[in-house]
Amino acid sequence: MSHTSTRVHAEHFQYLAERTSGDDTFLTELKAAAAQEGIPAIWVAPEQNSFLAILLRLIGAKEVVEVGTLAGYSAIGMARALPKDGRLRTIELSPKHAKFARDWVAKSDVSEVVQVLEGSGRELLPTFADNSVDAVFLDADKAGYPGYITEAMRFVRPGGLIMADNAFAFGQLFDENPTDPEVSAVKAFNDFIPTVKNLEAVIVPMGDGVWVGVKTE
Ligand code: DHB
Ligand code: MG
Repeated sequence: MSHTSTRVHAEHFQYLAERTSGDDTFLTELKAAAAQEGIPAIWVAPEQNSFLAILLRLIGAKEVVEVGTLAGYSAIGMARALPKDGRLRTIELSPKHAKFARDWVAKSDVSEVVQVLEGSGRELLPTFADNSVDAVFLDADKAGYPGYITEAMRFVRPGGLIMADNAFAFGQLFDENPTDPEVSAVKAFNDFIPTVKNLEAVIVPMGDGVWVGVKTE
């Protein structure tokens, strides 16, 4: 068996999720409050939040950019992996979501680390300096991803991490008639990533599939 791959099923994901530390009280309350305000429950899986934090710790990340804040769940999760003088800038287009995230970041343990920037990735990413960021996490409009990656390949430093959520297209990757209008954008992005020069990346089958890559030079 040592040379074979185990065929992974839903039970395996449940099994590993049950063996992940998961959300603390604060993140549990954040999710409940977000649901109360009608913010869609499309945040990353708790084990994925943990995985992103582990990767950030491994590379000693200090400067992180997220595109797509939503409620601030992954921003807070990732910021907890940064040193006290680190910075995580998270970009959110929706004023309602940005305000919610700002309020919750302010009462969190990483209020000094997270900055919620209201605006679009298209406008804000070009303002970041070359090779100035250790890691980026894309979790926003899927049609924007190729453009965000092109910017990220400029502002992330060599050896830095490039991550993108939803490679499995909200579970509809293999659907013949997907209901979600962003599925085709995800598929195009998934086909685009292997063509990006100086990016070594794989899809990690966690949550809804997360691209994890390194900018090699
Ligand atoms: C959905 C899930 C996501 O993680 C996301 O970034 C956008 C949309 C969804 O399930 O619709
Ligand atoms: Mg997502």
